[in-house]
Amino acid sequence: MNILVIHGPNLNLLGLREPDKYGIVGLDEVNQLVRDEADLLEISVECFQSNIEGNIVTAIHKAMGRISGIIINAAAYTHTSIAIRDAIAAVQIPTIEVHLTQTAARESFRHVSMIAPVCIGSISGFGADSYVLALRGMYNYLNIKE
Ligand code: DQA
Repeated sequence: MNILVIHGPNLNLLGLREPDKYGIVGLDEVNQLVRDEADLLEISVECFQSNIEGNIVTAIHKAMGRISGIIINAAAYTHTSIAIRDAIAAVQIPTIEVHLTQTAARESFRHVSMIAPVCIGSISGFGADSYVLALRGMYNYLNIKE
C-alpha cells in the first residue's frame, strides 16, 4: 500500500501562517506525524506540496498505476479548482479530502468543496490529526476493498 499525501497552496507556511487557525505545527512536522503513522501501519507514504494548481494536477496524474490512495488538502483550491476535481475523477484512485480547520464553520466561500464529490470521504477540523485520521481511514478502506 503506497499513499500519496498532497498539500496545496500556502501550506508550506504552516506553523507561521495564522497560527490561531492553523496551529504552530510546521509542514515538516505534519509530514513526520503521517510517516510515523504509516510506519505503525507498515505502509509507505509520499508527501508533496505545491502552491501551483497545475503541479497538483500533474502529481495526481503521476500517481496512476503507482499509488493506492490519495490524501489531499487542496487548501484554497478546494473551493475553486475544477481542474483538481477532474484529475481526481480521471485517475480513479480512492481519495480523501482533509482540512486542518472545520471549513463548514468558517466563511461561506469555504463551505463549498469542488473536490468532495469525487472523494470517498472528508476529514476537517482536527489540525494535523486530520491527516493521521485520514491515513487510518484510507488504510481501513483499502483493506476492506482488497
Ligand atoms: C484549509 C482550509 C481552506 O479554506 C484554506 O484556504 C486553507 C487551509 C485547511 O486545512 O483548513 O488554506 O484547507
